[in-house]
Amino acid sequence: MTKKIGILTGGGDCPGLNPAIRGCVYTASKLGYECVGFLDGWKGIIENKTMPLGIRRVRDIISLGGTCLGTSRTHPYKKEGGVESVRRNFANLGLSALVAMGGEDTLGVASRLYKDFRFPVVGVPKTMDNDLSGTDYTFGFDTSTTVAVDALSRLKDTAASHHRVIVLEVMGRHAGWVALFTAICGGADYVCLPERPVDDEDLTKKIAAAHAEKGYALVVTSEAAEFASAKAGQAQERDDFGHVILKSRGVGETLAGLIEEKTGLETRHAVIGHIQRGGSPTLFDRMLGTRVGASAAKFAAEGKFGVMAALRGTEIVPVPLEVATGQLKTVPKEWLELADTML
Ligand code: F6P
Repeated sequence: MTKKIGILTGGGDCPGLNPAIRGCVYTASKLGYECVGFLDGWKGIIENKTMPLGIRRVRDIISLGGTCLGTSRTHPYKKEGGVESVRRNFANLGLSALVAMGGEDTLGVASRLYKDFRFPVVGVPKTMDNDLSGTDYTFGFDTSTTVAVDALSRLKDTAASHHRVIVLEVMGRHAGWVALFTAICGGADYVCLPERPVDDEDLTKKIAAAHAEKGYALVVTSEAAEFASAKAGQAQERDDFGHVILKSRGVGETLAGLIEEKTGLETRHAVIGHIQRGGSPTLFDRMLGTRVGASAAKFAAEGKFGVMAALRGTEIVPVPLEVATGQLKTVPKEWLELADTML
């Protein structure tokens, strides 16, 4: 009987997932395994919705954004009978391993399944937020932050022409990596991160000075930044994993209002939102996706379960899922110091 590996992609999509699926399918095939794809993350394995994943299906997906398997934020432990369905459908399909591609939520479920049942699962780290521990980078981050840098450079043209201040709000949930890299590499004048509350005085003083010098100023803010004084809307809607849905907080808008009020400078804001998550993966994300996908298939064939294929330096190594999902990787002091020097 042919040995089979199941693959699913869960949580927010990001560029690099298709290269990772492709890397996994090619390697599995070389090792004598067939691959089966589950549709829409954990939902697909709960509902037994599958698609065959042969070489022909994945050959041409290297340059495509999103995920050809679809995704969702379904949490099997939050659905009645969800975990039992996962285990039953996995067994009925005659699978010997599951490769789960996702961020802290999807891999958190994988880690729990491994802990509770020694479920034969291998994780692949993905998230545009780059906030997963145990790995140096996650694919999706490079592409989505490159898109944000491009957006900032477009905003610079219009800000300079109108002598305005423009605030760009970027995604990244509760870690400021996307905002930090966008601000430094896009040449912004100020960055607001969830890792430290925004100091209104400092912000307005620096923005006024940058504007006086150049005739315009650019601010990058994370969607999750907090302010000492002005309060951005308190978004309360939560997803299956208990995360507040940040899209309606209006951080960029609040910040623009605050700057205009305190400096008297004409200020606009732009929210890049999901535009950041789409599009063709960069070279870096294509290669990282390919490598972690391929390693996950290898780990599965070797019976190395309960681990994630992580990038450490230039190597891909197995890291326990428990370590990867134990704590969110937020921006540390050294990076904040670099931002303070460069901005
Ligand atoms: O976790 C990835 C991410 O893109 C976050 O940066 C963002 O807050 C969230 O997903 C948006 O989620 P959704 O696509 O469900 O609106």
